[in-house]
Amino acid sequence: MQGQALPLAVVDLDAFDRNVAHVGQLVGRRTSQMRVRVASKSLRVPDLLRRVLAYGPPYAGVMCYAAAEAVLLYQAGFDDLLVAYPTRQPADLNALREIHEQGATVHLVVDSLDGTEQIARAMAGVTRPFSLIIEADVSYRPLRGRVHIGVRRSPLRTVEAVVDLVVSARRFETICIGGVMAYEAQVAGVGDRSPFRRHLNPILRALRQRSASDVARRRQRLAQMLESAGSPPLIFNGAGTGSLTYACDEPWLTELTAGSAFLCPHLFDYYSNITFEPALFFALQCVRRSDADHATCFGGGYVASGQPGCDKLPLPYLPQGLTLVDNEGAGEVQTPLRADGPLALRIGDPVIFRHAKAGELAERFSHYQLVTNDAIVGSVPTYRGLGACFG
Ligand SMILES: Cc1ncc(COP(=O)(O)O)c(C=O)c1O
Repeated sequence: MQGQALPLAVVDLDAFDRNVAHVGQLVGRRTSQMRVRVASKSLRVPDLLRRVLAYGPPYAGVMCYAAAEAVLLYQAGFDDLLVAYPTRQPADLNALREIHEQGATVHLVVDSLDGTEQIARAMAGVTRPFSLIIEADVSYRPLRGRVHIGVRRSPLRTVEAVVDLVVSARRFETICIGGVMAYEAQVAGVGDRSPFRRHLNPILRALRQRSASDVARRRQRLAQMLESAGSPPLIFNGAGTGSLTYACDEPWLTELTAGSAFLCPHLFDYYSNITFEPALFFALQCVRRSDADHATCFGGGYVASGQPGCDKLPLPYLPQGLTLVDNEGAGEVQTPLRADGPLALRIGDPVIFRHAKAGELAERFSHYQLVTNDAIVGSVPTYRGLGACFG
C-alpha cells in the first residue's frame, strides 16, 4: 500500500481464486451436471467475472441484474446471460431483442402472464423465440401463509401457478420458456451467526434449516410437475452463496448461483454453513488524530443496502482493534475510529476496511487494484470505471 494514493479498493486474487475453487469443488463434488451461474451484481467488474468463468466447469453463464448490463457484457464477449430481475421497459426489451438477434443466449425473468404477453409483443418479428425464465416464489410461509419469511418478489406462490404460466405461455410464438428460477433469499441471504443480533441466531438457524427443506420439497415438486406437463425446464436456477451447501444436494436444479462467495464481504462471515476468505478490501488514509485513542480517516461512508443496521456498515479490518464510533458511524467524507488500546497510526497511514456486501463497493471506485503475494500486480475497471451505472 506504500506510495499508493488513497482511498483504494483492493482484491486479494489469491483469496479470490481459493474462493472460486472452493465453490467449484463444493458443487462439482456432488454432481458433474450442476452448473454455477455467476451473479454479476456481486462483482460488477467484467475482468473478475471473466476470471471466475475461466475456472471452467461447473461455472457457466452470468446472472445479470439489468438489461443494459447484459448488453455491455455481451459486447465485452460474455454470453449465456440471464437477466434475473424483471423489466418491461421498452428500452430494455429493445436492447435485449437486439443482442438476441445478434446471436446472444439471453434470458429474461418474468413472473406474470401479462408480463409474458408484453414481452412476446415486444419480440414480434424475431428470427427465433426469445427465452423467458419464470420466477417462482419460495418464501417460507408457515401457518397457512399467515406468516411470510422471505423476499417480496414473484407473486407465483404455488407450483400450480408456475405450471399454469408455463402452459399458457405456449400460445406466444415469439417467446419460449427457457426454464424457471426459485431463489430462497430467506436461506441464502440471512446469516445465523451474526455478532450484531446474537439472540436471534438460534431462531434464524432453525428457520433457515426448516426453510431449506421446504424449498427443496417445493422445487422437486415443481420439476416433477413441469415434466408431467411436457415442459421439463432446461434451466432450473436456485440458490445463492449462503445456501449453496443445501442446494447442491438438489439434483432437480440444473444450476446454482454464486457471486458474494468470491469476494466474501463481512456479512458472509456470519453463516454457520459456509466459510470463505475475505478477498475485497478498501484502504482509507488516516488524516487526523483528535485523541490518543482515536484516528479519523478520509472517506468511508460506504454503507450497504438492505434493512438498515450496524451490520450494513463497513468493518475496520487492519490495524486490529479499531471500531467505528457509535454516534458517527461511517461518515460521508470522514470516518472516525476508536482504538481498544494504544494506537500507533500516523497521519497518512492506511486503514483497511471490509464492505458489508460484495458488489456495492464497485459503485464507489473506478478501479480495483489486484494483489497477489501482497504486491499490487494490476488494476481493473469496475462498471463505474467503464462509465456504466445500472441502478
Ligand atoms: C436471484 C438471485 N439469485 C442469487 C443471488 C445470490 O447472490 P450472491 O451469491 O451474491 O449472494 C441473489 C442475490 O440477491 C439473487 O437475487
